[in-house]
Amino acid sequence: MSTPRRHRIAPSLLSADFARLGDEVKAVVDAGADWIHFDVMDNHYVPNLTFGPMVCHALRRHTTVPIDVHLMVHPVDALAQAFCQAGADLVSFHPDASTHVDRTLQLIRAEGRHAGLVFNPATPLDVLEWVIDKVDLVLVMSVNPGFGGQSFIDSALRKLERARRIIDASGRDIRLEVDGGIKPDNIRRAADAGADTFVAGSAIFGQPDYKAVIDAMRRALA
Ligand code: DX5
Ligand code: ZN
Repeated sequence: MSTPRRHRIAPSLLSADFARLGDEVKAVVDAGADWIHFDVMDNHYVPNLTFGPMVCHALRRHTTVPIDVHLMVHPVDALAQAFCQAGADLVSFHPDASTHVDRTLQLIRAEGRHAGLVFNPATPLDVLEWVIDKVDLVLVMSVNPGFGGQSFIDSALRKLERARRIIDASGRDIRLEVDGGIKPDNIRRAADAGADTFVAGSAIFGQPDYKAVIDAMRRALA
């Protein structure tokens, strides 16, 4: 009963050259990226530190493709609002990092942005039952958050299948994104499990020819 969903490829800037972020965004968009995935780490929720809303705001001028902000921060609300105002199109957070998940979702949507929930490998999808009407994106982590270049955790496939069932039952237009260890040789398995949006950091930025990798991903999805 599921209808064909257009796949989106969202390169993660985490593996880009931070000294040339504007050029990297342009290069990866020219290579066929649909979204830009922007990993925000606070050295508190995860043991790493990346970039904040000012960098998002600066990059906003360099591209018209959606900026997909993945907040790995605690607390969430002030930064979620700051990223909405910095030009993010989608702002996703980990429900275990927010004291009041429903309120945080409302806050993002009140800013006119799409709101997403992110589930770590060991985090159940239970909260979706209660807030699905306020969710625009479900992000299933296929690695533990904090670093690029890790290996895909297979249990994410079962979680994607379950998330797909929940989304389809809701009848709402909700994207199902997978993040971590995605490469041309496993992207199809994630798609078959129900994902329609694919984050890839090291697989794309770790290669000299971004277009060759994105094209290989699209061929695998075709
Ligand atoms: C990890 C980040 C990912 C990361 C993925 O915490 O959320 O977006 O960039 O990197 P790869 O594709 O290298 O696993
Ligand atoms: Zn991410």
